[in-house]
Amino acid sequence: MDFRPCAKSLFLDVWVEHVIEEVSTEDREGNKGTIEGPYYVPGSPSLETPATLPMRADESGTPLLFPGQVRAVDGTPLAGAHVEIWHADDNGFYSQYAPGLPEWNLRGTVVADAQGNFALNTVQPAPYQIPADGACGKLIAAASWHAWRPAHLHLKVSAPGRQLLTAQLYFEGDQHLSDDIASAVKPELVLHPQARAGAAGNEVTYDFVLDAVRG
Ligand SMILES: [Fe+2]
Repeated sequence: MDFRPCAKSLFLDVWVEHVIEEVSTEDREGNKGTIEGPYYVPGSPSLETPATLPMRADESGTPLLFPGQVRAVDGTPLAGAHVEIWHADDNGFYSQYAPGLPEWNLRGTVVADAQGNFALNTVQPAPYQIPADGACGKLIAAASWHAWRPAHLHLKVSAPGRQLLTAQLYFEGDQHLSDDIASAVKPELVLHPQARAGAAGNEVTYDFVLDAVRG
């Protein structure tokens, strides 16, 4: 069984999607987003905040506490907003695409509380290379590029009456922030985690401001 996204889909994700995303969201107020990428799976488990993403008992990687708030552009908290998150594991692999990973590993939909606040526990993902065989691999080789993406969290943040925000969040210090093969990094999307006081791992706060759906 081939778990990789098909070559045509991968080509569009890597070399076309970021251009479409820039143009289609240039008038949007609130947070910047970026591309969805090829590893999204709808319908991940719904989790109450504070949440821990589904993971193996021995999941490797630096623990990450990620709290934040979802608000409207005018500052109104968006109660019950959905923060859908998926990301690679500490080896750069996604559940439902790489063999041997439990279904929904490191994927979940956190429901914010009445003040729009959410908090989730996960582990920091690793950078990974996009599949470099087939047509995409030939293009990468011909252009003397590399196939790396910086480590990132994928998110879809939504609330009734608000535009869906699709984003990726990156990590300060990642060596591929400036040469992402998918050209999806924006300065506003780079996290600055701090070591947790009195607990293992890192913590970073990041808020999401969602623009209204326009008629
Ligand atoms: Fe990804």
